[in-house]
Amino acid sequence: MSAAGERIEAIRRAWGGRLVILGHHYQRASVLEHADHIGDSLELSRKAGSAKGAERIVFCGVRFMAESAVLLGGEGQSVYMPERTAGCPMANMADEDQLEQAWRDVTASGGKWAPVVYVNSAAEAKAFCGRHGGSACTSGNAKGVLEWAFGSGRKVLFAPDEHLGRNTAADLGVPDEDVALYDFRAPGGGLVPAELRAARLVVWKGFCLVHTAFTVAQIERVRREIPDAKIIVHPECPREVVSLADEHGSTAAIVKYCDAAPDGATVVVGTELNLIERLAKKHEGRIRIKALNPSVCANMAKTNEENLLSLLEQWPETCRVTVSGAVAADARLALERMLSL
Ligand code: 13P
Ligand code: SF4
Repeated sequence: MSAAGERIEAIRRAWGGRLVILGHHYQRASVLEHADHIGDSLELSRKAGSAKGAERIVFCGVRFMAESAVLLGGEGQSVYMPERTAGCPMANMADEDQLEQAWRDVTASGGKWAPVVYVNSAAEAKAFCGRHGGSACTSGNAKGVLEWAFGSGRKVLFAPDEHLGRNTAADLGVPDEDVALYDFRAPGGGLVPAELRAARLVVWKGFCLVHTAFTVAQIERVRREIPDAKIIVHPECPREVVSLADEHGSTAAIVKYCDAAPDGATVVVGTELNLIERLAKKHEGRIRIKALNPSVCANMAKTNEENLLSLLEQWPETCRVTVSGAVAADARLALERMLSL
């Protein structure tokens, strides 16, 4: 272990159960060595909430995840991030004012509507959703959340990920022509009222740079070069990529799929590279795991042993993550509705 790593471990021992370090699957292996829990964003936020006696939570991930830990966390807990600029560019593609404008646009077209926001969004976007009777969702439960919204007789405004929205609609058998794309940079979302009236689902034009780096050409190459390989991709990938893969699923589903793959199999994975490399190591000698394309989340990579150590030694207030009271109350409504479904 590196010298910084040894010092991190010494600090962890000194704090005992009063300190909990959470590490997202996309973090560097050298950071995850120090995590009490490794998981997807929702699992980790839940761990924060259930970590009784933990005074300080260190979230090694990106800001929206740390905010969810604040929202779902317990009394008297403080949440910190080693690198405060580690944000999710997709979460930053939907701000509260843009969402409120979109809400005015869609509701003006008539009918009843529900907002659904992906957890990869700012606390303010979740607050917008909670205020208007909607629910948050993750890539693992988006299907159930959309079923709930449609089941209540409402049309859905889904933000910020176009691709998760389209892929989930396809999973539910919603025809492509019932889905409209809302371009938040264009007046009226670039849609005319007749298009909004015809749509059952309006998806926000947001995207993840990491998952839109996967292409149809890459899938075709794998089919040619490793014909017996199974391909699984994350639902943040474009619709055409998902439809050509053998499987698609959330981070947790990808981990499970590899765990369940038969001995000798080759699994080609379309998601963040750090997770794929750890899965390849875990299953080394049993199955072969390859990246569809080496795609790294630059924001996840901002956290490293050096800034983790510096946080644990100095606890600067600038690394503390907070959500203001009014925003938190509404944002919790969206998260709690999701957890109750
Ligand atoms: P999870 O919610 O599966 O942890 O995914 C987070 C993410 O950032 C996917 O790109
Ligand atoms: Fe955001 Fe994509 Fe990075 Fe996930 S992988 S944190 S969605 S930029």
